[in-house]
Amino acid sequence: MNKQNVLITGGAGFIGSHVVRLFVNTYPEYHIYNLDALTYAGNLENLIDVQDQPNYTFIKGDITNEDFINELFQTHKFDKVIHLAAESHVDRSIEDPLAFVKTNVIGTMVLLNAFKACYHSNFENKLFYHISTDEVYGTLGETGLFTETTAYDPNSPYSASKASADHFVRAYGETYGLPYIISNCSNNYGAYQFPEKLIPLFINNILNKKELPVYGDGNYTRDWLFVEDHAKAIDVVFHKGVLGETYNIGGFNEWKNIDLVSLLCKQMDDKLGNKEGTSAQLITYVKDRPGHDLRYAIDASKIKKELGWTPTVTFEEGLDKTIDWYLNNKDWLNNVTTGAYQDYYKKQYK
Ligand code: NAD
Ligand code: TYD
Repeated sequence: MNKQNVLITGGAGFIGSHVVRLFVNTYPEYHIYNLDALTYAGNLENLIDVQDQPNYTFIKGDITNEDFINELFQTHKFDKVIHLAAESHVDRSIEDPLAFVKTNVIGTMVLLNAFKACYHSNFENKLFYHISTDEVYGTLGETGLFTETTAYDPNSPYSASKASADHFVRAYGETYGLPYIISNCSNNYGAYQFPEKLIPLFINNILNKKELPVYGDGNYTRDWLFVEDHAKAIDVVFHKGVLGETYNIGGFNEWKNIDLVSLLCKQMDDKLGNKEGTSAQLITYVKDRPGHDLRYAIDASKIKKELGWTPTVTFEEGLDKTIDWYLNNKDWLNNVTTGAYQDYYKKQYK
């Protein structure tokens, strides 16, 4: 049998690099093509350990470039697509919403069109798997969980762009019979996450003895999942998911921001040999994020019941591993926080 050609978009980013690594190492019978524009968030250093594998090819390119994407699909006839490429940070979406429409909405449309044009409705054994977020559901109050049937109600330009992309994927399924699956996951954390998101930003700031900017009163809640568990969930959905279905993926692991930050400070003090309370002194309450969603929490019982996936890494264990990774990879941190990062930081936390 011929090798299956699997396209992973955004594979040089945080979650994408874990998915690429898992697929390249687990499935020699697939050829994995990693398509990534290498924006500020994409970094080939994330994949040094797999870059020379015979079943792996990196392609630098932008998913919004129609001619390039169409040609790429015609050349490689990708059997399956796992689409992760996106602008992914809420704060940046507040500053520059159009960049999010371009990549997340138009980029997804360009991929859908190229995929459709490649197969002329003969979609046997084909799959377009869109990786989305729980943020499309908007915000929860103090109780309740997002299920797969919760109505979409996005509040940030980021979540609105992801919701729009989800709608187009579904519409292509209904209208053109395009075989798709969507999964909506909660907040990820782990190695290789760009230090603009809460956990790596605060690890980096503690290392540099900089303030830890907690938005508002810090009583916002997120449901945290270790990134390697998300990558495993994507593997399970890719192989066992039912076409046309949506799967919610979450950690059964809700934390108020301020409690999470306190735990992080404590673990950092332990590891750095600091006196207890040293890192917590850096906590600074700052102006809230506009449109800040109060609470996200996922009901992941469908993927558990139907596909047999559950998270395997506890939060304490995952956070411990994550901190160790950043402490052991200070060069990676330094490389991504020089240059343009400094300008972003000044603007965001002025
Ligand atoms: P990330 O920002 O770390 O990585 C995104 C990758 O996409 C980067 O490598 C970047 O270079 C690439 N990219 C951006 N624009 C591109 C373009 N126009 N063409 C080609 N490549 C482009 O993001 P992440 O946190 O790894 O998230 C990956 C996906 O998972 C996104 O679709 C995001 O919406 C979704 N998601 C993320 C989380 C989370 O907690 N991080 C949770 C749920 C879902
Ligand atoms: P983030 O990591 O940006 O993920 P998301 O907005 O997609 O949930 O933020 C997680 C939570 O942490 C969110 O409630 C916003 C908050 N936060 C801060 O309090 N300070 C910060 O500097 C950042 C980046 C986030």
